Amino acid sequence: MLLDQIAQRLEPKALAPRCLVVDDDATVRHSIARVIELMGLSAMQAGSAEEGLERLAAEGEVPLIVSDVNMPGLNGLGFLEEIVKRYPDTAVIMLSGVSDVKTAVACLDKGALDYIAKPALIEEVRARVTKALEKRDLLLQKRFYQKNLELRVRVQAGRIKELFVQAVQTLAHALEAKDAYTSGHSMRVSRYAVQTAVRLGFTGERLEEIRLGADLHDIGKIGTREAILNKPGPLTEEEFAHITEHTILGERILAPLARENPTVLRIVRNHHERFDGRGFPDRLTGDEIPIEARIVCVTDAFDAMTTNRAYRASRTPQAAFEELERCAGTHFDPKCVQAFLEAFPDPSALPLLT
Ligand SMILES: [Fe+2]
Repeated sequence: MLLDQIAQRLEPKALAPRCLVVDDDATVRHSIARVIELMGLSAMQAGSAEEGLERLAAEGEVPLIVSDVNMPGLNGLGFLEEIVKRYPDTAVIMLSGVSDVKTAVACLDKGALDYIAKPALIEEVRARVTKALEKRDLLLQKRFYQKNLELRVRVQAGRIKELFVQAVQTLAHALEAKDAYTSGHSMRVSRYAVQTAVRLGFTGERLEEIRLGADLHDIGKIGTREAILNKPGPLTEEEFAHITEHTILGERILAPLARENPTVLRIVRNHHERFDGRGFPDRLTGDEIPIEARIVCVTDAFDAMTTNRAYRASRTPQAAFEELERCAGTHFDPKCVQAFLEAFPDPSALPLLT
């Protein structure tokens, strides 16, 4: 408090909230400005709306403007509209003669906080100015609170999503770890997919969606019977149909991500589509298959080929490369195969360790 008092003594006008009084009638303008100054505020004056706008442009916005309604040139209503547009945080009180009370009331609809009828009494000006400044403070506080609240809700929603993804990832990795054949599969597929996607020009959030989608691509296998997953021999038609369902179940499990991460869901649903349209579950062809799913299809196949499975031994990375190239254009998108081979030119460095 003491510092405030010293500061006010040194330079009272510069520290006090500034107001602008606009009226073509100099007597009225001086009187209102004087009342405002006696309240401890500083008051700039302008003889017209145009001059008022110029002063604001030159000296910056003010917390409060008191403006006449009826002025030559731009009138009070037009001036108010400009102020609302350019300085939405400024409180405006209109001054009106008896004949233009209607216009003053119309100004309230356009964003003025109050109006004072002329001839204005000193006490009335004081009371209205105080009230308008208080009202403005409340509006600013409310706006700040709302913005802050929106931010907190966004942060909270992000945290909930993060927890959901972590829980699903933990579940997926735990299921894989149970089985020596598939241990680390999703994480390797994800790492292969990210580096392949980088070769294809993916960056930022789209790349992150590929990382996550590849990591969760087989989450639907939670619902696949273990006897079928680990069956050493060929599958019956019914068993194959059962396996295909993991793509649809996976998409359903990840539904909470649908709005913000639709690509993740597309990868999970469509990573078994074939370029020639003979895949599942939607039998999409070529470019109909989301590019992110086409990438994961290649890296999923490579990892499956280069790791031992219950039903067959692994191939060498070199043999898997050859198989990818052989099936480019039928099973796989040639562009994705090419990008994968460019991303991992040295087969002796593969498979990646997780
Ligand atoms: Fe799969």
